[in-house]
Amino acid sequence: PAVTPFTVPLPVPKVLRPYRRTRSADHYAVAMSRTSLEILPGRRTEVLTYNGSFPGPTIRARSGRTAVVRQINLLDMPTSVHLHGANNPVESDGGMMDTIAPGRSKTYVYANRQPGATLWTHDHAHHMESEHVYRGLSGLYLLGDEQEDALGLPSGRYEVPLVLRDAHFDASGRMVYTMDDAENRTTILVNGRPWPYMKVEGRKYRFRMLNSSNLRIFILALSDGSQVTQIGADGGLLPAPAPTPVLVLSPGERADFVIDFSKYAPGTQLELSNMLGPGPADLVGRIMRFDVGDRTPDDSRVPDVLTTLPALPNPTVERTFELQMDEPGSGGHQAYINGRTFDANRIDTEIKWGTTEVWTVTNASVTVPHNFHTHLVQFRILERDGQPVYPAEAGLKDTVLLFPGQTVKLQMTFDTHRGVYPYHCHMIDHSAMGMMAQMKIV
Ligand code: C2O
Ligand code: CU
Repeated sequence: PAVTPFTVPLPVPKVLRPYRRTRSADHYAVAMSRTSLEILPGRRTEVLTYNGSFPGPTIRARSGRTAVVRQINLLDMPTSVHLHGANNPVESDGGMMDTIAPGRSKTYVYANRQPGATLWTHDHAHHMESEHVYRGLSGLYLLGDEQEDALGLPSGRYEVPLVLRDAHFDASGRMVYTMDDAENRTTILVNGRPWPYMKVEGRKYRFRMLNSSNLRIFILALSDGSQVTQIGADGGLLPAPAPTPVLVLSPGERADFVIDFSKYAPGTQLELSNMLGPGPADLVGRIMRFDVGDRTPDDSRVPDVLTTLPALPNPTVERTFELQMDEPGSGGHQAYINGRTFDANRIDTEIKWGTTEVWTVTNASVTVPHNFHTHLVQFRILERDGQPVYPAEAGLKDTVLLFPGQTVKLQMTFDTHRGVYPYHCHMIDHSAMGMMAQMKIV
């Protein structure tokens, strides 16, 4: 069904209230259920939801305060809830095999022992994760801390989540899921609605952006060519604001950025565009529109220094990883890390607790982009194809994009939890096709 872009107002996912607060913890309850709601104007679409909303409600957690989340599975298939980007013990990581049976619940305990960051929860049930995430099982988890509060960044209603993704709808408005079918997912959704518009005041806004697509990579820019100020990436704030003309986000990646709308005349319509396919530019090239209103008082700031990143210890172990997939058209539908598809009974990488390692990851596919995501740790990208990365990628990261043929060097330290955790391509159809492996920290 045809949707005229920029006719639907941008909704903001609601913030989930804890049902109980103690001195050190906030307790939440979430029910996963099948729901029909309006995505395309005038249609109902059946989706999978956390608490009936699409995307799920936002959890606002605090660094150093525990969040206890009871997840109740009211669906007719198993689920597993992973908090992406978080440092959690195995039993609260939401592993592929650690599923919640239909009708059962599981309580996840998140200690939040890490700096403020834009995290997100999504399904991870083995072999079903990609369809579950596609059908709606994802939501933001915004972790705040005192140091960030003291910066004076735009906050309250001037801090706005933007969850981007694509989807394929048939003529009746039903969401169609076919594995590895990026070409047909040409409807762009922001916070669950197609090509929305947002009325903004002439002042600064902070945007917490997540690419929750299964496969689509976005290269975003403002239609007037002006820069946005990126202040954070996956795992938290950057050391310093990084003005950038484009935001590059592969599935699972986040960008925290500020736009100052005070420089635009009231009445200005500013589009956020996407410069990368697949799909027709009049559909996938558009994301949303900002309709700028009158200038309003603004005492928010973007200080020159945002945070100090932890020092990089000397690495003592080096490993290499090669991402590969049966090329499109080859007839094969398998995906591999170091030549092997995922096997839950196998540990591919054994790591000694306390070690700092450098992982060299190569995308060995000829035409297909991949990305690389590790559970448990935030890493630093030392270089891409031998070059230093641009400032927005220099912060704490848990997901990194690799176009065909590219190589990145990542550094990470395993000095928190022990146990078995996965790493995988977060173009999540690919991980479901086998581009996933496991590490064991001992
Ligand atoms: Cu975002 Cu293994 O996950
Ligand atoms: Cu991939």
